[in-house]
Amino acid sequence: MHANIVVLPGDGIGPEVTAAAVEVLRAVAARYGHDFHFREHLIGGAAIDATGSALPDDTLAAARDADAILLGAVGGPKWSDPNAKVRPEQGLLAIRKALGLYANLRPVKPHAATLGASPIKPHLLQGVDLIVVRELTGGIYFGDKTRSDSDASDLCRYSVAEIERVVRHAAALARTRSGKLTSVDKANVLETSRLWRDVTTRIVREEFPDVQLEHQLVDSMAMHLLARPREYDVIVTENMFGDILTDEASMLAGSLGLLPSASLGEGTNGPDGSAQPEHRIGLYEPIHGSAPDIAGKGVANPYAAILSAAMLLRHSLGLDAEAQCLELAVSRALDAGVFTADLTCDRTRAVGTRAVTEAVLEQLELPC
Ligand code: NAI
Ligand code: MG
Repeated sequence: MHANIVVLPGDGIGPEVTAAAVEVLRAVAARYGHDFHFREHLIGGAAIDATGSALPDDTLAAARDADAILLGAVGGPKWSDPNAKVRPEQGLLAIRKALGLYANLRPVKPHAATLGASPIKPHLLQGVDLIVVRELTGGIYFGDKTRSDSDASDLCRYSVAEIERVVRHAAALARTRSGKLTSVDKANVLETSRLWRDVTTRIVREEFPDVQLEHQLVDSMAMHLLARPREYDVIVTENMFGDILTDEASMLAGSLGLLPSASLGEGTNGPDGSAQPEHRIGLYEPIHGSAPDIAGKGVANPYAAILSAAMLLRHSLGLDAEAQCLELAVSRALDAGVFTADLTCDRTRAVGTRAVTEAVLEQLELPC
């Protein structure tokens, strides 16, 4: 198949890990006879430096036209002046919003070879296989902001429709797995959470009666996620809670550098504004940030970006066998002990981004 993939490397380690992901996607294309066309565009701090905007028009236009988007990460100390009018994160929030990518899927499945990288006891991790569906285009990240000398505010707002669509996505996903759905909110305090809980209860009762729904408050969820992670399957939650809980969940897998994500919507609008529901565009990125502390050193863990590329193959291109083959290659590289420094206490064993990429490429040459 032919596919146009827009690559948005971004800042910090973003360019290093996306380069690894592109390289393995090229190998997948060669192996299966596909024709993937990659085009790089600017986003985040790199885009601010070049154009003054965190999401230049040509980046958004290319993203709208693409079959899929692969993103690294944005941000860093260079652009962190609190008084700056334009910030790198605005580019990321804007592209998610513009493309209507409201469902952010973040799977967490610890690998046997990296159990030692987790601070959690190994017996608690065995059999953990959960997926967080984070609402991505609403909530406090997108609400009106104010700032004066004496105070500041961020508005958290959710509409019924915004909650309905992400809950439908999560409940449909739960149906394909164990049938269990956990909705996380703060309904004892927040009005948006009380709406979240009411809408979730109604959608599941009316449209997914076979799905077993439980509600969990976010603070105790933060504890349960580490104490009994095996009991969860699909977890649906609002934007900020999902952001925080998944960085926490990365410790189940062993490192932030292992968790991929897919951001999906109903489909994008065509250039003339017409809906193209059959064209399910997605944006794929590791859940980690730009890691300025290790950027440029060639030591960043590219597994999360590579696993995001596998999600791209599956969710945007419909290439499930190819996605599985790539995931198997990653799994075999981990089994072979190909670890970046974040995955092992034994620094003498740690390899860099390049060696991980080569190990995955080598595994991709073997039968799947
Ligand atoms: P971070 O996720 O960039 O890094 C947290 C820690 O994990 C750091 O010690 C880092 O070295 C390590 N780490 C992250 N990814 C790694 C990888 N692939 N391999 C090895 N180690 C890895 O979060 P932090 O430090 O809070 O934020 C740094 C910058 O990233 C900020 O400017 C922030 O705004 C931005 N950020 C961007 C995100 C995005 O583009 N999606 C998400 C989160 C943060
Ligand atoms: Mg985050």
